[in-house]
Formats: sequence, structure tokens, C-alpha cells
Amino acid sequence: MRVASNKLKHILDFFHSELNGIYPTSEIEAMTAIAVYSVLGFSKTDMVLRAEENLNQSDLLKLYDCAKDLKNHVPLQYILKEAWFYNLKFYVNNNVLIPRPETEELVDVIIKENKTTHSFLDIGTGSGCIPVSIKKNSSSATVSACDISKAALQVAQKNAENHKTNIHFFEKDILNESIAGKFDVIISNPPYIKKEEAATLSKQVIEHEPHLALFTGEDDIVFYKKIIDLCKTSLNEKGHLYFELNPLTANSVKDYALNSNLFSSVELLKDMSGNVRFLRAEK
Ligand SMILES: C[S@@+](CC[C@H](N)C(=O)[O-])C[C@H]1O[C@@H](n2cnc3c(N)ncnc32)[C@H](O)[C@@H]1O
Repeated sequence: MRVASNKLKHILDFFHSELNGIYPTSEIEAMTAIAVYSVLGFSKTDMVLRAEENLNQSDLLKLYDCAKDLKNHVPLQYILKEAWFYNLKFYVNNNVLIPRPETEELVDVIIKENKTTHSFLDIGTGSGCIPVSIKKNSSSATVSACDISKAALQVAQKNAENHKTNIHFFEKDILNESIAGKFDVIISNPPYIKKEEAATLSKQVIEHEPHLALFTGEDDIVFYKKIIDLCKTSLNEKGHLYFELNPLTANSVKDYALNSNLFSSVELLKDMSGNVRFLRAEK
């Protein structure tokens, strides 16, 4: 199908005709509005009031390509190279996981509970959404973050610079290397999807997001075990550990934390959808 003319209303029709049957109508409308806002700076009201306006060739082409990519299940955030997290705009590409709302919930808890905390470490930082949001809200804290992926660290560094935050990023394979230094708070949203869950993932996720960020190895909770063990040497007394969890393995992670005898308290917390999603432990 072609776009009938350069008019905005015709590119809006094009989004619907290309994406109909692939996404629910409400999602098509939401994605179209985000794309139009990103390319033209038009609000939803503008989309109605300015529907008869002719777009220039360059904007028309950007929106046309966007609809075509969405049809091929490319996530909108990768197409636009941006994702919103904790009211901040992050640059993203397909080397990093698209930040999720559940992780925003965790960051909100961490920021509210650690107003006077001095040092934070985020393990498996991806886009850097966690450390940048924390540093933005706790400007006097020292914030460090690591990842095994050089490409992800480049994205995280770019986001730290875009938000004028000073964060110490370093490359680290958490499964095979140790960490220098001690921290008041350690956070991780590690890869936690079991291989057998792959069939349940959408095409957007499985075909476009980095598998390094998604999947665990043979042991479904290997990352959690390593990070809990690390708390022996790298988490300060009275320090806190926060994890984002897979509800399917949450209890195994909690048991491992309890059996480590490192913590005075270990709790599981639910996300807004009612799923057990987070762990909080105090040393
Ligand atoms: C689920 S993503 C989380 C990204 C980001 N923190 C977020 O919440 O959006 C997990 C991250 O762990 C990183 N990772 C995978 N294996 C790792 C390892 N062995 N050591 C350190 N980081 C690793 C991946 O590159 C990915 O960025």
C-alpha cells in the first residue's frame, strides 16, 4: 500500500492499514501518536487539527519507514532510538534492553528508600536507565554501573552524558570476575528469562532485543546466586540489595538469599500487576 498524498491524515491512514491485524487498534493509535510526536512534535490534538497539512518529504519518509518497521515487529523504541524511563528520555539501540515499567517501579522504591545513601552499584546496566535515574535524584551519591557488553556500556555512557550525570561505568563479566570496592546499595535486573519461556515472547522481543540481556544459562538463577555471593565482600554492613525477579524463580532466589546467612531481612515485593517481581534484602 502507498501513502495517498503528503497530507498528515493520509500517513495516519497508512499506519492503520499497514498495522491492522498485527497490533490491537489501541496500540496502533498509541504508537502512531508517539511516532508523530517524535518526528513532527505534534500532540494528539495537533494530529486532529492539522490533519490536512502537507508534510515535507523527509518527515513523510521517516514516518513511512517507521510504519514499515513496525510492520516487521521492530519495537518502536528502537525505530525512534528513544525510550522514556522515570520521566527521562534515554537513547536506545538494539544492543540494550528497552527499559521496562517494572524496572521504573523498582527504581522508585530504591530512590525513596535511600535518600541519604552514599554509594550505589548497578550490575548489568544495559541502557544505564537505573544508575542515571538514581544519580538524577541523589546528586551527592557515588553511582557505579557495570555490564559485560561494551556496546551496552557505550549506550549507557551516552545517556549519562545526555543527562549530565557522572557515573562510573566499567566492563565486567559478573559470572566470572570479581568486583573491587564496597557499596551501600547493590541493584540488579539481570537476564532472567528461562530458555523454555522463549516461545511465549513476542516477535518484537525475541527477534530484536539482545539475547544476552534476556536469557539465563543452564541454571535459571545463576546471576542472582553470583550477586548474592558477591554481597559478602562488596555490600557494606546495613547495606541493601535490590533485584528485579522473574516471578517463576522468585522463591528460589529468596531461598538462596536466606540460606546465605548474609542478610538480616529478605523480602519479596509485588509489582503493580500483582506479580512477585522484586527482592529487597538488608545486610
Ligand atoms: C535484563 S538486562 C537489564 C538492563 C537494564 N539494567 C534495565 O533494567 O533495563 C540485563 C543486562 O545484563 C547484562 N549482562 C548479561 N550477562 C552479564 C554478565 N555475565 N556480566 C555482567 N552483565 C551481564 C546484559 O548485557 C544486559 O545489559
